[in-house]
Amino acid sequence: MSFDYINALLKKPVSRTPIWVMRQAGRYLPEYRATRKKAGDFLTLCKSPDMACEVTLQPIERFDLDAAILFSDILTIPDAMDLGLYFTEGEGPKFSKPIRRLADIDGLVKPDIGSELSYVTDAVSLIKKSLNGRVPLIGFTGSPWTLATYMVEGGSSKNFSKVKGLMYENPSHMHKLLDKLADTIIDYLNGQIEAGVDSVMVFDTWGGLLNKDSYEDYSLRYMEKIVKGVNRHHDGKIIPITLFTKGGGMWLEQIALSGCDAIGLDWTVELGDAQTRVGDKVALQGNLDPCVLYASRDTIREEVKKILSQYSDNTGHVFNLGHGISPDVNPERMKDLVDSVHEFSTKQ
Ligand code: CP3
Repeated sequence: MSFDYINALLKKPVSRTPIWVMRQAGRYLPEYRATRKKAGDFLTLCKSPDMACEVTLQPIERFDLDAAILFSDILTIPDAMDLGLYFTEGEGPKFSKPIRRLADIDGLVKPDIGSELSYVTDAVSLIKKSLNGRVPLIGFTGSPWTLATYMVEGGSSKNFSKVKGLMYENPSHMHKLLDKLADTIIDYLNGQIEAGVDSVMVFDTWGGLLNKDSYEDYSLRYMEKIVKGVNRHHDGKIIPITLFTKGGGMWLEQIALSGCDAIGLDWTVELGDAQTRVGDKVALQGNLDPCVLYASRDTIREEVKKILSQYSDNTGHVFNLGHGISPDVNPERMKDLVDSVHEFSTKQ
């Protein structure tokens, strides 16, 4: 198995800078679109371990990636909490039973990972078998705050008025919801670890829309609880944990104190500055602007060189985009990205 990805997260020696890409299994790949069509809809794809395994491996077959990421979604937890998740074409996720008042929060039942979410752990076991040690497998979850935004808003949102309204008006209700989510997430990640994932990542997609105090109180605090609650030793191995707050570049020092192994960065932070700010505490993942993939091969290679040159240690950097790859990217440009990261970072 190529260990560069895990070694970089743990700041152990690597042969070259490892790379994986958020949403690497997705609509920009024709083979993904074919499997998705066969499944009929996105949730059916997530809930079928066979097909989830198939699409997880598609980018691994096509590109020289250093890690696979479980094909699933962050909204599996609210779905298992019976909020009536559905996806409408072009509009993203929606909930028919959103969370609006204390009674809704009190009524939320913590799902049993071994039954309601067994399709996820079954997919992990199957993927591990199919990967056969080629590359490590990343498990993941949404952060409590990010899950709460979808649950309270009832889907995606422009201004997050309902979830922020609840936070300002009824802090104790919000904390109750976030605490329930954190407990469920700990079980969920431990289930994924038990089933075989080699690292875990927390997607805090919407933490960046909070101010500093509320980020600490409503997002970071619950991610810290998760870091403490996750079984980071399994089967004789360390399971590294990465926290990714999109738009969280202002708070890297605080995130670095959470106990996580690595911080995911979006493209708005300069990687070298980020490294200076966090010091030796954590590894860094990121952070090419996903839109660079709309440029030519030569431009992609130049932008990759720039990012690699900003990071000054031999290890501790996992290359990634600063957010997910877009559905209309040409897969050839993804190949240019992956190959150039390896070409320019191979250690002599
Ligand atoms: O990275 C990977 O390859 C693993 C798979 C993965 C998906 N979603 C697949 C997916 C991961 C890690 C996620 C996480 C996720 N899901 C996040 C956090 C990451 C981020 O983008 O910040 C969020 C916010 C979600 C919720 C969600 N799921 C949204 C907003 C959407 C987009 C809806 C749309 O139509 O664009 C999804 C759907 C989704 N999740 C797709 C994929 C490949 C597209 C579904 C399709 O095939 O139509």
